[in-house]
Amino acid sequence: MNDTRPLAFDGRFVKSALIENVENLAVTGVVTNLSDEPLIVGGDVPGVVPAWKSTILRNGTITRARRVSVIDVPETENHGGVVFDGWDWFGDCMAEFPRHTPLYISPKDEVGEVTLNPWHFSNHPAPQGETARYKIQLNLWWAPPQTDAAIHNTHDFLEIHTQIFGKGRIQIFTDETGRQLYREIATAPGDTHDPIVRVDGTRSFRYPWHRGWTDESCIWMAIELHPV
Ligand SMILES: [Fe+2]
Repeated sequence: MNDTRPLAFDGRFVKSALIENVENLAVTGVVTNLSDEPLIVGGDVPGVVPAWKSTILRNGTITRARRVSVIDVPETENHGGVVFDGWDWFGDCMAEFPRHTPLYISPKDEVGEVTLNPWHFSNHPAPQGETARYKIQLNLWWAPPQTDAAIHNTHDFLEIHTQIFGKGRIQIFTDETGRQLYREIATAPGDTHDPIVRVDGTRSFRYPWHRGWTDESCIWMAIELHPV
């Protein structure tokens, strides 16, 4: 129990650990429930963090959880220096990425596998009964304030994000031009947004045109579930 290891993006500015089979463990940081089972928070009155949701604990106790990430930014001075911990400018990873957009990506970490129903995962109003197996992959992103992290609408995985530091938004548009925004999801540290994917099959996913937007200097974690 409480099997702990540093995540691939653990570093000087962002302390990051994966903990599995958690029982009665006090932690500090943004805690994300990376499992399909509820996480129980200890206290006078116990709390629940549902599957694939998150919370902030300050020396708070996780009574029980299957698998969590715990991510903390203990010092904010120079925190944008996080990109010097082996991160890449995303333009070096993707040739078609805009050449003047300061979006940076951390090393990736594969933290395990899960069997789940993707319709339930995405709160589909008419879920089908099928489950499938997915690899759970994590990485961090960093961008300075007022960054348009590039509009896109394709992923061959289920995607959600946990905000770690700074305030931002997920913005959703009618088309690729980004001229007409019709939905925003505010993101603050400790939040994991609801999935925006429409699941057509266990490995068939549709996404609206969306982008990340940073109001402040932001660090956020991508959680990707890749069909096995
Ligand atoms: Fe996306």
